[in-house]
Amino acid sequence: MKILAIETSCDDTSIALIQTPAPSGRGSFNFIERRKEERISFNILSNVISSQTEIHKKWGGVYPALAKREHQRNLIPVLEKALKKAQELKIENRKLQIEEKRLRILKKILKREPELLDNFLNFIPKIKKPRIEAIALTVGPGLEPCLWAGVNFAKALAYFWQIPIIPVNHIEAHIYANFIGNFKFQISNFKTLFPAVCLVVSGGHTQLILMKNIGNYKILGETQDDAAGECLDKVARTLGLEYPGGPVIENKSSEFKIKNLESKIKLPRPMIHSKDYNFSFSGLKTAVLYDFRKRNPKVRKNKDYIRQICAETQQSVIDVLIRKTIKAVKNYRIKSIILGGGVIANNELRKQFREKIKKEVPGLKLYIPDPKFCTDNAAMVAVVSFFHRKEKKNWKGIKARADLRINK
Ligand code: KG4
Ligand code: ZN
Repeated sequence: MKILAIETSCDDTSIALIQTPAPSGRGSFNFIERRKEERISFNILSNVISSQTEIHKKWGGVYPALAKREHQRNLIPVLEKALKKAQELKIENRKLQIEEKRLRILKKILKREPELLDNFLNFIPKIKKPRIEAIALTVGPGLEPCLWAGVNFAKALAYFWQIPIIPVNHIEAHIYANFIGNFKFQISNFKTLFPAVCLVVSGGHTQLILMKNIGNYKILGETQDDAAGECLDKVARTLGLEYPGGPVIENKSSEFKIKNLESKIKLPRPMIHSKDYNFSFSGLKTAVLYDFRKRNPKVRKNKDYIRQICAETQQSVIDVLIRKTIKAVKNYRIKSIILGGGVIANNELRKQFREKIKKEVPGLKLYIPDPKFCTDNAAMVAVVSFFHRKEKKNWKGIKARADLRINK
């Protein structure tokens, strides 16, 4: 079956079309579990992402009201591109006349997104209904105004095309990004995957999750203040670097060479030895701010200083993430580690994770998504919906849930 997926939880507007391996609507995960020998792979027909980074650069972070406005503007053009790329875009000769009752309901669904309503009415009645069986939709967690833009858009489409919605948790989507691409997995192999420890690290979240099976999660620990990505974004802002901070800090760090240095900066590794699995990154951000403030203006602009403080910040984040993950692996008899989220796109983190696992827990499987599926995208949302396809709902019951938890 074909699924259309919508993701608007933060500042990226993304729509994907995927072809799932199993026949439509039938059964649950148990149904595919019986087909043990079959290899499952998801065929990504399109995965269009419209990034808003240029708009948010001025603020050094995501400004929710602006992000919502951009989602309103972007959703129809992104949908158009996604349908076209998946060869599901057919423009009719004549625009369909919408009868009054239907129009009233559409206006009601999109009453808080007037610009999106206009775009919707200008485009959707002109195109042939694509051959999709459901809409996979990120309902949370995320920035509430942003989530609502995607939710109301999905509801209007689901109502207009008379198809169900499968609500998806954004954190679960970051985990399932591992199932995309060349990674073909056999259901029978699932036994060798679980229990797994999942580490999801993004701009909004830093969570260590025990995954006992598909759909079975327990949050072991999470950040008590800033997410790791948020910390990198804020540090970049302090240092006068661009948003998003993660990739810029990675870049500056890679230029850092010890021999150029006079003094070595040492930043804290917050909570690295705490007994729990929680994290804290706001102290790291503050430590960078203090170091920066005490330097004279000349040093603050010095390339070597910037490179060094970036490298040390990045290393602090990496050290804490790896240490806590390995601690969970040892305490829970884990069979695999699954990483996900925007910060996991970081090459140094990927490299060090591989090296440390090899050294400290040799033989343990480590799954890391392709970097392009680490940051927000709708393809990963579509993949999750395949495993939850029994939970499809009528558009009427769908809501955005900014604080949605993966363990419900
Ligand atoms: O998963 P994501 O796209 O959105 C959220 O769900 O938050 O993650 C975005 C975060 C940003 O904080 C960004 O700075 C960080 O991921 N990020 C990175 C890299 N690419 C993105 N952090 C470190 N290294 C990177 N290469
Ligand atoms: Zn995300």
